[in-house]
Amino acid sequence: MPAFAKRMAFMQAAADVTRYLFESMTDPETISFGGGAPAREALPVELVHEIASEVLTRQKRGVQALQYGNPIGIPDLRQAVVDKLLAPKGLQAKLEDVIIVAGGIENMNLVSQLYLEPGDVILVESPTFVHAIEVFKMFEVRCIACQTDDSGLVLEDVEAKIKQYHPKMIYVIPTFQNPSGRTLSLERRKALAELGSQYDLIILEDDPYSEMRYSGEALPPVKYFDRTGHTIFVNSFSKIFSPGSRLGYAYADQKIIRKLYDAKTATNSHTNVMTQILCAEFFNRGLFDAHLKLICDIHRERRDVMLECIRTLLPEGVRYVYPDGGLFTWVELPGQIDTTAMLPQAIAQKVAYMPGKEFFMEGQPVLNNCMRISFGGVTPEKIRIGMERLAGVVRAAL
Ligand SMILES: Cc1ncc(COP(=O)(O)O)c(C=O)c1O
Repeated sequence: MPAFAKRMAFMQAAADVTRYLFESMTDPETISFGGGAPAREALPVELVHEIASEVLTRQKRGVQALQYGNPIGIPDLRQAVVDKLLAPKGLQAKLEDVIIVAGGIENMNLVSQLYLEPGDVILVESPTFVHAIEVFKMFEVRCIACQTDDSGLVLEDVEAKIKQYHPKMIYVIPTFQNPSGRTLSLERRKALAELGSQYDLIILEDDPYSEMRYSGEALPPVKYFDRTGHTIFVNSFSKIFSPGSRLGYAYADQKIIRKLYDAKTATNSHTNVMTQILCAEFFNRGLFDAHLKLICDIHRERRDVMLECIRTLLPEGVRYVYPDGGLFTWVELPGQIDTTAMLPQAIAQKVAYMPGKEFFMEGQPVLNNCMRISFGGVTPEKIRIGMERLAGVVRAAL
């Protein structure tokens, strides 16, 4: 058999932690704070059932749903993106500026196809979203991490690394970041857009969580401050509609969207038309606003319970992020606790989390004592039980 390509060694290393988490999850008694799934109660099952039974008939959209589609996506879903998702963020998009893709992660793949050559450098946050890194690394690039603090990316470090590494792109998750839950401040959003223009680099702004805001004031995206077309705004329907539908979108200058269209054609022709129709109807029947309120109410309660548990159950010296939205908080344990080494002990106690180590890239220190805690997929009652178990494991490790 021919050898696997060299890049697969990295892919395997990155996938191993996820695989381990999934495989150890076969026990239904285990409470997992490891994944990034939204609450099952927040999935619009009844609404989608109603839409599907009404529109998927031969006279209505049944034929469109089962036929080949346009690589750019169906017009009414793109229009919903323009009117219902971009306009409220202050982004005045035209229909031609939007393409529908197969889930948020496909954006990383398509944008990489457009710009990256082997050996190129991408600047990322430290810590950052590990699946995006997996995609970038498939293009044989270097991902260099930049410093972050409670207000997100530290732009002095970004600028120093721009001068040192001459990157092509900066990948950033400005709002309720995965894994840290942190949010980039308003001033830094503006300054980051300006850095893109000044140094002629792509700012890849990934925004799957900003609608899930439970407290605090909404901030305009980095794209809002982009005057030169250097920012590509990418997003996902996974957290506001359904992850299983595999839907996402990109908003950028029309010439970039045209290239994304070319890359999309070669990748998978087009995004699933059936789920595009269900999602478009969901928005265009005016169901989104009430459903988003439900999503936020469910997750706000989970966030509050999780943070109360962190405050009251975990030992002194623990540092954590208070996220104003999204699905994650980031916990830094005291002492020399290695959260990767501690995971088997946690699983033995029927609780799981995502060890922090995997989220760190070259260029910044790897913090072994951190963990990403996801509160989205666990009910408040189970959060309490799971956190008592986790607190026991941490105390034993101390
Ligand atoms: C920052 C970030 N970007 C993109 C995605 C991927 O979204 P999707 O599930 O739509 O591929 C996620 C999902 O967890 C995410 O956290």
